[in-house]
Amino acid sequence: MDLRTAAIEVQVRAYAPYSGFKVGAAIRTASGAVYQGCNVENVAYPEGTCAEAGAIAAMVAAGETKIAKVYVVADSPVPVTPCGGCRQKIAEFAGRDVTVTMGNLDGVETSLTLGDLLPGAFDAAQMDRA
Ligand code: THU
Repeated sequence: MDLRTAAIEVQVRAYAPYSGFKVGAAIRTASGAVYQGCNVENVAYPEGTCAEAGAIAAMVAAGETKIAKVYVVADSPVPVTPCGGCRQKIAEFAGRDVTVTMGNLDGVETSLTLGDLLPGAFDAAQMDRA
């Protein structure tokens, strides 16, 4: 399935009664499979989860760990960018060269590599003396 279509399909199912801001994310893995996620908010606000986190959880639950491409969509004036925490979550399973495409429902799109979105990412090599 086309990644934008997959992201829009799940975006409408987001549970965002507090912010009113529904986000959809779709991940294509190295195998070609597509995993979808949406934000799921909670009355205890910090317990809410982002769309990207949901898509990553679906990917891992299906037994996959290699992200090839990411698409994030929301009904925003400009393409929505993953929050800092989600950039780090994507980096756990994606190389610096992986493209993250951000879009809105009007069809405006921007693409950046993960390396551009998260320069200087924390990684396991930094723990080598631990
Ligand atoms: N949100 C996402 O799900 N992904 C993003 O990339 C940006 C923000 C969600 C979190 C919260 O439910 C709502 O959007 C407003 O911040």
